Amino acid sequence: MLKLVAKGFYNELINYGVNEADVLAVAGHLLDNVMQKSSSTNKETEYYNRLFAIKDVKDEWAAAKRLTLQEVSIAPLSPSLVPQIVNWLREPATRESFYPRFPDSKEDLANYFQAPTREYFSIFQQQKLAGIIGAENIHLESARLEMRKLVGDPELHGKGIGKRATFLFLYHSFVIRKSRKVFLHSLDINIRNINLNGKFGFELEGVFLEEAMIQGKWRDVVRMALAGPVWLELFS
Ligand SMILES: CC(C)(COP(=O)(O)OP(=O)(O)OC[C@H]1O[C@@H](n2cnc3c(N)ncnc32)[C@H](O)[C@@H]1OP(=O)(O)O)[C@@H](O)C(=O)NCCC(=O)NCCS
Repeated sequence: MLKLVAKGFYNELINYGVNEADVLAVAGHLLDNVMQKSSSTNKETEYYNRLFAIKDVKDEWAAAKRLTLQEVSIAPLSPSLVPQIVNWLREPATRESFYPRFPDSKEDLANYFQAPTREYFSIFQQQKLAGIIGAENIHLESARLEMRKLVGDPELHGKGIGKRATFLFLYHSFVIRKSRKVFLHSLDINIRNINLNGKFGFELEGVFLEEAMIQGKWRDVVRMALAGPVWLELFS
């Protein structure tokens, strides 16, 4: 896992125009930080269970098909929102963060969401549409599904919407749907997504080497997974 994070970090440095000699200097600065940290500040693996607990979820699923956590809600995705999602996906960086990609046209995307092996939700922040989160490859026999998420407007990134929506989605998967396992695919360069998932207890399950072609370059794809009992224990 750390090797992958380091590889993503290396790619980012090169993208920022840092040359190879300076990458070594960055590695030295990283070590300086380790040396400066007193042992009391070294933390065990961090989880979001200091921020959220299962009891914090306002569960109105039975009556109103809505789950809420600290001003972020999820509800079944309405087909009327497809044009907005198509707009979000027009942004190449957003479109290419998904593996495999979502369909491009409104018609194809509307059909895509209706497939019986998928279940998508809208994400709202204080009643305002902020993104989508959903299940793909729902496998009833083995009670597993794949998670995908998008906070649509890049200006809303980094405000905690993604992690609250993920928590609500995991609540839906493990408490309401009673799934056994949730898994996901992430590009090796998507450090934000890998960080977020790790703090919910997702662990690396495998790496698909040079699996996806992104902007003319082959990228590795990471598969991570979280078992229901692990999440229930971490967040109860
Ligand atoms: C991935 C995504 C859903 C995260 O949503 P978000 O609302 O921006 O995320 P949050 O604000 O809840 O932050 C979650 C974590 O991301 C990480 N993060 C936030 N900003 C970051 C940054 N600039 N660089 C690296 N990691 C960052 C942090 O670990 C953060 O947790 P912390 O605040 O506890 O440290 C969103 O960035 C997105 O939609 N990206 C494009 C689509 C995508 O990549 N989807 C995932 C493919 S399945």
